[in-house]
Formats: sequence, structure tokens, C-alpha cells
Amino acid sequence: MSTGSYHFETLNDAAFQAERLRQQAQAVRGMEAGILRSAGIQSGHDVLELGCGPGFVSDLLAELAPEGSLYAVEPSPTLLARVEGNVRKKPARGLFPIQAYGDHLPVPDSSIDFSYARFVLQHIPQPETVVSEIHRVMRTGGHFCAVDSDDGLVVLYPEDSRVSQILHTAQTTQTEKGGDRFIGRKLQHMMTRAGFINVKSRILALTSSELPFDALFNILLGYKASMLGDAVDIKQLFDDLSQKVVGGRQLIAGGVFIVTGEKA
Ligand SMILES: C[S@@+](CC[C@H](N)C(=O)[O-])C[C@H]1O[C@@H](n2cnc3c(N)ncnc32)[C@H](O)[C@@H]1O
Repeated sequence: MSTGSYHFETLNDAAFQAERLRQQAQAVRGMEAGILRSAGIQSGHDVLELGCGPGFVSDLLAELAPEGSLYAVEPSPTLLARVEGNVRKKPARGLFPIQAYGDHLPVPDSSIDFSYARFVLQHIPQPETVVSEIHRVMRTGGHFCAVDSDDGLVVLYPEDSRVSQILHTAQTTQTEKGGDRFIGRKLQHMMTRAGFINVKSRILALTSSELPFDALFNILLGYKASMLGDAVDIKQLFDDLSQKVVGGRQLIAGGVFIVTGEKA
């Protein structure tokens, strides 16, 4: 299977991107713990994380399911190699880093209580196949939570043509590579089709008044900017927007879809 639109080994700014993922996880850790608890994660659960990257969120999952186990699935060997070191406290029944793509999980049927996919499905060419595969490995009554972006939720006032350019280029580039920057709105339908029940979508909106500007900027534009090369002076853009936000002259808002479903 192709890696779709996120292939860590070929990113031209891999170190920056790893740091971006760390900051992104750190900035919202408390909020994310609440989301995961209300999605159903429990202390003794066998948990599967799809596309765990370097493992910053794996650390949070291990903290929330300390009596269970964690299957951390990631196709990139470079990123997977970091998971062990980034999960500070291993769950009682073990941490299992697994190199695999989401459409062929080397995990038995009905063996997982809670699955999480965070900013992963937007990069995968056939996300519905992966959602079905997750459904296969879940136990009856288990919950799957997917968190993903949708560029329809990005709002700036006043608008900035550089941001529009970044968004437009990112959408085109990601589509060419098989990804989808508008996947958020499609997840509910996808999960229902895969057989999940009680599928619910929620939008978490974040504004420049709520999050530190650098964290919001990274979440909204960090990965997209890496696809642009030199077309936009990203540092200049960061400085301009940052000054305006601090001065109260700029509103930036973004949102993520949080979609949960249960295996019947
Ligand atoms: C934007 S990163 C998100 C990493 C992590 N979930 C986080 O939120 O910090 C997307 C991750 O999905 C992984 N990925 C890409 N294609 C995948 C696939 N087909 N199956 C599973 N993971 C995949 C990438 O290697 C990368 O680690």
C-alpha cells in the first residue's frame, strides 16, 4: 500500500515535523485526555493506535489505560523506533510497536477495546478500507475514535492571501498524493458504512484567544507549509500574524472533527 500524503522519510524537514508533532501533542494534552475518556477509554483496555508517529500521543494513551496494553501501529520504521523511548510508563500488559499499514493490521479479530486514529486518515488513499480493518479487530462494545481535520473549519479575519495560498496548495498537493484535507466531515458516514453503531461527530474549535499562537499556527499551517517549499516566507508570515494576534487585530480559528463509533 502507498503511504499516501504523509511519508516521513521523504519530508524535507523531518526534524521540524517531529518537533511539530511533539508540540501539537503537548499543547492539547489535557484537552485530549478528556476527549479520550469521553470516547470510552478505560484503565484495563487493550488499545490500538493507528499511525502513532513518534509516540507522543501513545504516551497519553498508555497513561489512560495503565492496566491494559497498547498496540502502536506505524508504517515508518524511523518514527516507530522512537515510540518505545517516548512512552514513559508502559501499560501493565505491554507496549507493542508494530510496523504496518492500516489496511492490513497484524492483529487478531475482536482483540481490541479502544482504537484511536489522530490526524492519520486524511493521509490515506483508501481510508474506508482502514476503517473496516479497525472494525474487524475491535471487540463488541469497543470504541473507535478518529480525530481529523477539515479545512472548511479554518477561519481568518482579516483574511491573509498567504494563508489562502498555503491552504490551496496543501489541498491540491495532498489530493494528488491520495490524501483528503476535507476528511473530517466524511468520517461519520465512513464509520457507519463500516458497521460501527452510535456514530457521533463533534467539532472542537480552537481560536487564537484560547491556544498559544505558536501552537495554533503549527496545528493549522505547520504541515501544510512544509509542502510549499519557498513559495511563502513562513517565518515572515508567522511574525506578521503573531504581532496582529497579540495586538487583538487578528482572529484565527481552526477546528477538528472528533468522531466516535461503537462495534455492535
Ligand atoms: C500527521 S502524522 C500523525 C501522527 C500522530 N498520530 C500524531 O497525531 O502525532 C500521520 C501519521 O500517519 C502515518 N501513516 C501514513 N499512512 C498510514 C497508513 N496507511 N496506515 C497507518 N499509518 C499511516 C504516518 O507515517 C504518520 O506517522
